[in-house]
Amino acid sequence: MSDHSFTSNSRVAVVGLGKIGLPLAAQYASRGLTVIGADTDPAVVNTVNRGLSHVGGEPGLDDLVRDAVTAGRLRATVDTTAATRDADVIVVIVPVKVYEDGRVDFSSIDHVTAEVGRGLRPGVLVIYETTLPVGTTRNRLARELAEASGLAAGRDFAVAFSPERVYSGRVFRDLRRYPKIVGGIDAASGCAAEAFYRVALEFDAELPEPRVWVVGTVEAAEFTKLVETTYRDVNIALANQFARFADAWQIDVDEVVSAANSQPFSHVHRPGVGVGGHCIPVYPLFLLNDDRAGESQSLARMARLENDDMADYGVQRIDRALGGLAGQSVLILGYSYRENVREDYLSTTKRLVPALSERGARVLVHDPHYSAAELIERGVAPYDLTRPEPVDGIVLQALHREYRDLDFRMFPRCRVVLDGRNAIDPATVESAGLAYIGIGRGNGSNHPRLRGSL
Ligand SMILES: NC(=O)c1ccc[n+]([C@@H]2O[C@H](COP(=O)([O-])OP(=O)(O)OC[C@H]3O[C@@H](n4cnc5c(N)ncnc54)[C@H](O)[C@@H]3O)[C@@H](O)[C@H]2O)c1
Repeated sequence: MSDHSFTSNSRVAVVGLGKIGLPLAAQYASRGLTVIGADTDPAVVNTVNRGLSHVGGEPGLDDLVRDAVTAGRLRATVDTTAATRDADVIVVIVPVKVYEDGRVDFSSIDHVTAEVGRGLRPGVLVIYETTLPVGTTRNRLARELAEASGLAAGRDFAVAFSPERVYSGRVFRDLRRYPKIVGGIDAASGCAAEAFYRVALEFDAELPEPRVWVVGTVEAAEFTKLVETTYRDVNIALANQFARFADAWQIDVDEVVSAANSQPFSHVHRPGVGVGGHCIPVYPLFLLNDDRAGESQSLARMARLENDDMADYGVQRIDRALGGLAGQSVLILGYSYRENVREDYLSTTKRLVPALSERGARVLVHDPHYSAAELIERGVAPYDLTRPEPVDGIVLQALHREYRDLDFRMFPRCRVVLDGRNAIDPATVESAGLAYIGIGRGNGSNHPRLRGSL
């Protein structure tokens, strides 16, 4: 295979123009590269081709997309194979999710890979940025590319994995601040990916080398992302167990975690009412489903159970606070899995709703990122904050910026707020005459408006 060198004349196909793929496409175009974005959603493709971004809440993205399209450096298509045919580098960033039983659903990435394979030319580089189970790039996707193209992986084309480590809502900042981890199916593939990212990304001056960090194998690069995310899941589970202990002792866990973390070996995360989204609750399962994992991953398994149980824990607390939930109305603030995004995959609200309903509560949901009709489509009853109807309790599930200055006096009849993210100042709730319960904040039990004890 010929040596890879990339210049601003190189052409890149980005497959999957979602919350991460579109910012990546815009970033590469901002470096002078010619970018073709491929996405199965015609609405996404049309929006991008008009110079607009369909992704909200990503600082800098609107301007970069507009400038790139105007300059002719970014266009989009629904035809992944055609995009691949025109490219020197193909970056794949479509989600891989799990079935309800936790098994990995490869259907989307297999489909994309077959389409890329059909357009593959000798000498190109394919990089997977989608988080994958260890071994997937080499043993599954590189083989599928070879089969679809009739070319040999490694000899005729390069294949690498590079975990995407950014956080949506601050993608461009994170791209500049974190080293780009890369692993190839062979040394030449790793070098090719390194050369590409040195052209396509720009890093903060203070970030030490290696800014593009080539690890020994493609499997090491895949595992790196699973280590980061599983670490977070296990750490949050530990914080949640500390929160339960703190509640039992009427201690504020947040105060304790801050105090403990003042010692440099301690990095305890914050507790909460659940862990959602398509990253943290999903990627530990990639490890747990690995035949080679055995009992070596039992901590990750326990963490998953603990974090999934937190919604029920929160509901138990509000149940006790209200002296039973039968016939009570409870409003959940936040359908998205976290603040300031429109993304509800494995959202904790989907655990809270049945847990509350099973205890007889009437559940209402509000989220500024979803219309009433969209919430109804998703099987939940919408709540209109502009015309607040009486509710007995509130659960804050995601602190969208619209909730930051909420005046809790606006909720007629309401007696208690469960702050599932320990994100509200208890004083703002209590000064409105409502009781405040956090997760592990050991408070609320003596509030005069509560019938039961916590
Ligand atoms: N969202 C995050 O915060 C985040 C952070 C780090 C890494 N990641 C990684 O990025 C991946 C993508 O995340 P996202 O948030 O951009 O997802 P997303 O759901 O916002 O976007 C995915 C896009 O891919 C398109 N798509 C789906 N199937 C396709 C196909 N067969 N061909 C072409 N396009 C297709 C969809 O139409 C959509 O526009 C994740 O699975 C994860 O591995 C995400």
